[in-house]
Amino acid sequence: MAADIIDGKAFALDLRGRIATLAADFTARTGRKAGLAVVLVGEDAASQVYVRSKGKATVEAGMASFEHRLPVDATQAELLALVEALNADPAVDGILVQLPLPTHLDEQTVIATISPDKDVDGFHVINAGRLAVGQPGYVPCTPLGCLMLLKDRLGSLSGLNAVVIGRSNIVGKPMAQLLLAESCTVTIAHSRTRDLAEVVRRADIVVAAVGRPEMVKGSWIKPGATVIDVGINRVAGTEPGKTRLVGDVDFAEASAIAGAITPVPGGVGPMTIAVLLRNALVAAFRNAGLDLADDAI
Ligand code: GUN
Repeated sequence: MAADIIDGKAFALDLRGRIATLAADFTARTGRKAGLAVVLVGEDAASQVYVRSKGKATVEAGMASFEHRLPVDATQAELLALVEALNADPAVDGILVQLPLPTHLDEQTVIATISPDKDVDGFHVINAGRLAVGQPGYVPCTPLGCLMLLKDRLGSLSGLNAVVIGRSNIVGKPMAQLLLAESCTVTIAHSRTRDLAEVVRRADIVVAAVGRPEMVKGSWIKPGATVIDVGINRVAGTEPGKTRLVGDVDFAEASAIAGAITPVPGGVGPMTIAVLLRNALVAAFRNAGLDLADDAI
């Protein structure tokens, strides 16, 4: 039986609709729009595309977008001064500094300078700590999007075996924390894991976030498992000179065995921006001292 395809694109569209409704409610109650500031340093082509789509999505949701571009040779002091100014600006509810930064800039110091209450990426150590101990904070967008897709598909995750492949601060580690908070039995696998195939075969839930094209094979998947593929890898296409996007999971193989699987593209990818808008709107409500039900978005 072929797996059900988890339509992240449709889910993200629906989520963005609900965010827009709540953003209008926020504006009606406060007389201002919820605001998200995005900072881009340098000219990295992929980052420029991301920043443009984040700004567009922010405006489409009825929120204010503040875009700040610094030249590639901007100094650490200039960047920190900008972040401090955004921390102090009451029109800015959320701040995102697009990564990676040029190598002469220190990412950890920049992230540490963002006010934890405006850290809609959830990268600040305060927010990582809040997630670890179960306090309200901000959770990185991609893993939170993955969790939303999993809960939509499976309902309660309690007692399920979850294997997260990848241990990055941005995806793997927060994903594992989120699944643990849902009472999964969680394994974090990585490049040094022994017999990864055997580990994955035990999983009711597989989240692949390693950045290696089609590494997870169909034979590794437990029949009926739910597979979330975070990978976005550009590889050579079948025609000369053409490229195509593939995930970290061999989709053709895995979709013959899994119960449900996210495609690439159209699975996890569209969720990231939708969850960023969600985090920014949650920040706006919290920073304005307004109640927002936990399950509102
Ligand atoms: N670069 C790629 N993904 C992200 C993200 O989610 N947040 C930030 N700040 N930079 C990124």
